[in-house]
Amino acid sequence: MMALVTGGAGFIGSHLADALVANGRRVRVLDDLLPQAHPTGEPRFVPKEAEFIHGDVRDPGTVDAALEDVDVVFHLAAMVGNGQSMFDIRRYTDVNVMGTATLMEAIATRAKKPSRVVVSSSMVVYGDGAYACAEHGALDSADRPKERLERRQWEPVCPLCGAEVSPIATLETHPLRPTSTYGTSKRAQEELALVLGRAYAVPTVALRYLNTYGSRQALSNPYTGVAAIMASRLLNGRAPTIFEDGLQLRDFTHVSDVVRANLAAASAPEPAWYEAFNVGTGRSVRIHEVAEALARGLCVDIRPAITGQFRQGDIRHCFADVSKAERLLGFRATVGFADGARELVAWARGETPIDRSDEANEELRARGMLS
Ligand code: UD1
Repeated sequence: MMALVTGGAGFIGSHLADALVANGRRVRVLDDLLPQAHPTGEPRFVPKEAEFIHGDVRDPGTVDAALEDVDVVFHLAAMVGNGQSMFDIRRYTDVNVMGTATLMEAIATRAKKPSRVVVSSSMVVYGDGAYACAEHGALDSADRPKERLERRQWEPVCPLCGAEVSPIATLETHPLRPTSTYGTSKRAQEELALVLGRAYAVPTVALRYLNTYGSRQALSNPYTGVAAIMASRLLNGRAPTIFEDGLQLRDFTHVSDVVRANLAAASAPEPAWYEAFNVGTGRSVRIHEVAEALARGLCVDIRPAITGQFRQGDIRHCFADVSKAERLLGFRATVGFADGARELVAWARGETPIDRSDEANEELRARGMLS
């Protein structure tokens, strides 16, 4: 039997395909090699032992063929940038939601169904992370009105008393209030997979990744995650651009841990089925620390530029409560940020990325999505 990895030529998917091959699994990759993430057009990270289908996850015939003899599906094919999703609204919704709908319909239609689906979701389904108010305790939501951002007051406030609030670990029960098209599409992906998995008795698990980083990030994609954008700028001799004040917290989770979480979800027993899990470290790093760690690792003496600008759709802080994944998946992240950043840097040194982040930011500014 085969494991199918949709998006298996990408950053996380290719590491997962490698791990499956190393575990002796037969692997099939379905990937459309989106030029934004694959500028050379080659599936250069797909292991040679894997069968490769160059195709679109929205195409029912392609997906049905890809499911032949498959027992486990890892669904990672998706568009992944918050910023870009604020203007490329139809495409993000189409690829992510229709791609998942196509996959689940193909599974529903097949006589011989896979025995497991693991769907890649994201902390973006929450929107902003969880906060507590000194006076009112843990809150369901905190406000970040645009007027405060324009005054460079970055911290969210308590909706009850208006005082600034402090970030706390985000649990899976936190209300889902995405702040971007990317977030709404990930929420729909997750819900489609879990609802239809249950209806057709195909055990399905959703993994909400915190900020994944590591080798093979799409360094030349200006709408990718912050660690890759900063590495690309530094390799081009430019200062990383920091939005807000650089004190934002994120739970940077190394790609090798994300792979292990996928493998755990593929074999987890019943209490984990039809559930969503945070996949994070439970620890947090400030965004300016990312720029500094990468500059140190790349041995370049370039300080980040703190701009005080802000992007629509960005959240302030988010780090995971990881107890549910520990309890039901037996998964615990093992790679700390210092080691993970070293791995990213060791790989990035051998790359020659094109840095298009200034153009991308101009595009956001022209559309009113960066102020
Ligand atoms: C990221 C990923 C998202 C993933 C989520 C959870 C991207 C674009 N975002 O979301 O796919 O689902 O983690 O795993 O891949 N920033 C700068 N300078 C820059 C770029 C960003 O200061 O050049 C700041 C942002 O304003 C934000 C923080 O860095 O405060 C993180 O940004 P980013 O990596 O884009 O995305 P997340 O929203 O954390």
